[in-house]
Amino acid sequence: TFSEAEKAAIASLASKIAGHADAIGAEALERMFLSYPQTKTYFSHFDLSSGSKDLHSHGGKVVKAIGNAAQHLDNIDQALSTLSDLHAQKLKVDPGNFRLLSHSIQVTLAAHFPNEFNAVTHAAWDKFLSIVSCVLVSKYR
Ligand code: HEM
Repeated sequence: TFSEAEKAAIASLASKIAGHADAIGAEALERMFLSYPQTKTYFSHFDLSSGSKDLHSHGGKVVKAIGNAAQHLDNIDQALSTLSDLHAQKLKVDPGNFRLLSHSIQVTLAAHFPNEFNAVTHAAWDKFLSIVSCVLVSKYR
């Protein structure tokens, strides 16, 4: 569960990202693929070159799913239930990869929103993304 301060920090940055979902998502994915090349193995069917259509379209989906979770902070399990089935049962993404994407998202947010991404907001987003990750790996067994 989140404190009121955490909820505010999550909501305020989520609303700023919403209008740039594709660009933020594409950059986060690009950072993940460059810094942690092993994550590319799940996306062999994508064009992973910088700024590609695939990166923008998939990045947008990821950021929108995070935005949806941000609007259901008391019920993230339910909000991400379908995605959780997909990642666990169909994609079988190794759970260790979620922290790599979460980190790449946070670096992207820090780079684009340096004033908003202070230590308190950073901590709230770290907690939020780790809960999102937990939900997405919760159906593995
Ligand atoms: C698909 C969200 C983490 C690999 C998706 C989709 C969304 C999503 C929204 C599209 C689902 C659909 O088309 O119905 C997220 C979120 C994550 C996360 C919110 C964590 C914050 C990861 C990680 C990996 C991964 C860590 C692997 C490194 C994939 C793959 C697909 C996918 C391979 C299918 C792509 C395709 O073929 O279109 N994810 N994801 N995801 N995700 Fe994730």
